[in-house]
Amino acid sequence: MTNFLSLADVTNIDALVQSGLDAKANPFADQQLGKNKTIGMIFFNSSLRTRMSTQKAAQNLGMNVMTMNVGQDSWGLEMEEGVLMNGDKAEHVREAAAVMGRYCDIIGIRAFAELKDRDKDYREQVMHQFAKYAKVPIVNLESATRHPLQSLADCITIEEEKRKSIIIPARPKVVLTWLPHFKPLPQAVANSFSEWMNARDVEFVITHPEGYDLAPEFVGKARVTHNQDEAFEGADFIYGKNWSSYTHYGQVLTQDPSWAVTMDDLRLTNNGKFMHCLPVRRNLKVADEVLDGPQSLVIEQAANREWSAQAVLKEILLNF
Ligand code: CP
Repeated sequence: MTNFLSLADVTNIDALVQSGLDAKANPFADQQLGKNKTIGMIFFNSSLRTRMSTQKAAQNLGMNVMTMNVGQDSWGLEMEEGVLMNGDKAEHVREAAAVMGRYCDIIGIRAFAELKDRDKDYREQVMHQFAKYAKVPIVNLESATRHPLQSLADCITIEEEKRKSIIIPARPKVVLTWLPHFKPLPQAVANSFSEWMNARDVEFVITHPEGYDLAPEFVGKARVTHNQDEAFEGADFIYGKNWSSYTHYGQVLTQDPSWAVTMDDLRLTNNGKFMHCLPVRRNLKVADEVLDGPQSLVIEQAANREWSAQAVLKEILLNF
């Protein structure tokens, strides 16, 4: 693996999932691998889990870690080519990425969708500009359209639960459900989860209100229904997430509270486990009783972010 921008950079998902589980069982087995190597983590947006888990994973591998918040710690960065830089961005990505690439062996980047121009967001300009000018491996810490470190942690979590449980079948039913929210949020987590579930041996269903279809390339082979109760029947895993409309790009079309997940909803499932990438707004998207109950996997899922990051960094380091 050179870059980790999306699932397309993964040659063997099963092996990567197992590598994450191995790291969880023995976190310091590869402490020499990253010795004298540095990862720079560049954040255009806020983060708790991605920042801490990736730093921890890098340190487990013996790496040095530098973190920077663009625009707060650094100059604002211009991404467009050939522009007159007479606005508020004082540095161009050409120089910034090239310089960072001289300080760092790997660069991680978080840059969310702006939700103003769909074509621009879906071109993944920030990731591609950094990959072009930094000339070192780039790790996606959540981009405009994807969050692959989260999706890998989700796969690790599902695999772990399957191995622990006697009621989860070999080919579990996994449901991605839209949750209500008053703010327009990117599609990245939902897109990425769909992309990875399409590549796993699961029965994958997506449920959302009308107008919230994900881009077809992410929906893939999933069955899509607007009936949440029907989707939940017999499900082994319920993955909750809000996203804004893709077709009416970036808009909030409904805040229907009946789409929030409650214990009544979970009772329709096969003792289904509830998953969410966090952060989550309690009782707006998910009831307290779900998050605090025995069917919730959200803390284990967040904990597994460390092992997904470690599996990816290890694979990149092995390629040096
Ligand atoms: N799930 C996730 O990426 O969390 P943060 O936004 O806190 O990093």
